[in-house]
Amino acid sequence: MATPQLMKPAPPPEDNPTDKLLPGEHTLPASWWTSPQVLDIEKRAIFSKSWLFCTHATRFKKAGDYYAFSFLGMNFFIIKTKAGEIKAFHNFCRHRAYPVVRKQKGSSVILGCKYHGWSYDTDGLLKKAPHFDKVEGFDPKANSLFGIRTHVSRQGLVFVNFDNTDDFVPFEEFFAGLEDEMNEFDFDDYEYHMSYELDGTFNWKTLMDGYQECYHCPTAHPGLNSAFKMETYKVVPKGNYCRHYAKIVEEEIESVKDDADPDVESSWFGFGKKQAAKKAPAKKVENPGGKFNGLWCYLFPTNGVNCYSPAWYSIRVLPITPSRTILQYDIYTKKGLAEEKKKEFVEFLQNVELEDFNLCQLTQKNLNQGVYTTGYLHPLKERGVLHYQKVVKDMVKKHFEMELKAGKEINPAQIGGKAQSEEAAELEALCSKIECMGKNPAEEHAGLEW
Ligand code: FES
Ligand SMILES: [Fe+2]
Repeated sequence: MATPQLMKPAPPPEDNPTDKLLPGEHTLPASWWTSPQVLDIEKRAIFSKSWLFCTHATRFKKAGDYYAFSFLGMNFFIIKTKAGEIKAFHNFCRHRAYPVVRKQKGSSVILGCKYHGWSYDTDGLLKKAPHFDKVEGFDPKANSLFGIRTHVSRQGLVFVNFDNTDDFVPFEEFFAGLEDEMNEFDFDDYEYHMSYELDGTFNWKTLMDGYQECYHCPTAHPGLNSAFKMETYKVVPKGNYCRHYAKIVEEEIESVKDDADPDVESSWFGFGKKQAAKKAPAKKVENPGGKFNGLWCYLFPTNGVNCYSPAWYSIRVLPITPSRTILQYDIYTKKGLAEEKKKEFVEFLQNVELEDFNLCQLTQKNLNQGVYTTGYLHPLKERGVLHYQKVVKDMVKKHFEMELKAGKEINPAQIGGKAQSEEAAELEALCSKIECMGKNPAEEHAGLEW
């Protein structure tokens, strides 16, 4: 039986006075924000083992509707099957690896590969392979698309996990408690409105550092300051997710002023360049954040779901290189919300997000210089940063130790074993030996700082 929607955001837990006595800690070293080797191992240790939030089920209206995604070069798509399920597949044809879907979104109950004409149904089963019908021993089932573990929460939030090993962590364990907490918000009452994207020249962790605290808000977010009581802002770690709390200002607030630094270049995709700074006279307006205190969750490693009363939005942070990251925002507005209110919310959100974006652009430039190494974090105000950086460190260290022991890289997303022939496995091993010739893998990794 479905759990009834509560629609009452839980209050933040009371402060523990002893929290203040905890000593602070330093950030991880800046090399973790710049090194290609660190990003490589993060891909195997974190992004190939975590449940990654992708989208909301409401966007799939009919069988065959699909959306394509890419996390660190792992291309995949999520599709609604004929039976109405949501499934995810690696986006490569089982014949010679050409992409099966080539658009970011589309709809088709037959997915035809445009290289040699193989085609698959919405369950990924190979339905047609020209001229293979007479090939002895060819098994279409064994040549179907590779599926990816998928979880659709009771609220319709869609997650994937690339871990193809038997050691994968089930969703309920990875995000224990998240689904119950998400029931405080009625996702059914919202519909997809729009998406936009920002292309940043910074590491994914540069963005998460800012996302995981509001210590910077009084200085960097004038709009947010008038919408929320910043002194009530709190980040509470809950394993692999963190809940953010703040009380909303219920009376009318000053309109968001656009006084961003005009020297800072912005790079909206789909919205053109940011206009030159203008000083609008402050006027009183209804709080664009609405009347709901908010259900904001950071989902390790790089995603966020943030619910307000007029709308909720998600953020996917996609690392591309150590110093390039794409941010994708999807906005869902309350059904029947007036266009004017939608616009107000989108503007409110985009202002705040652009302020964060610009903070990251300039921070990363300094991280790249190799002069700054670590910084001291506030034990309470930056608790969320300490928490997620610790999860990063622990996952990377654990995986690195496993690789050292095995004497080779371990990629949990790789689909080998059963799916490969014995000869393929043998040739794969030969390739690794050739790559390692003359070098000791332990030494190769020795340059990493912990
Ligand atoms: S690669 Fe798809 S049919 Fe050949
Ligand atoms: Fe911010």
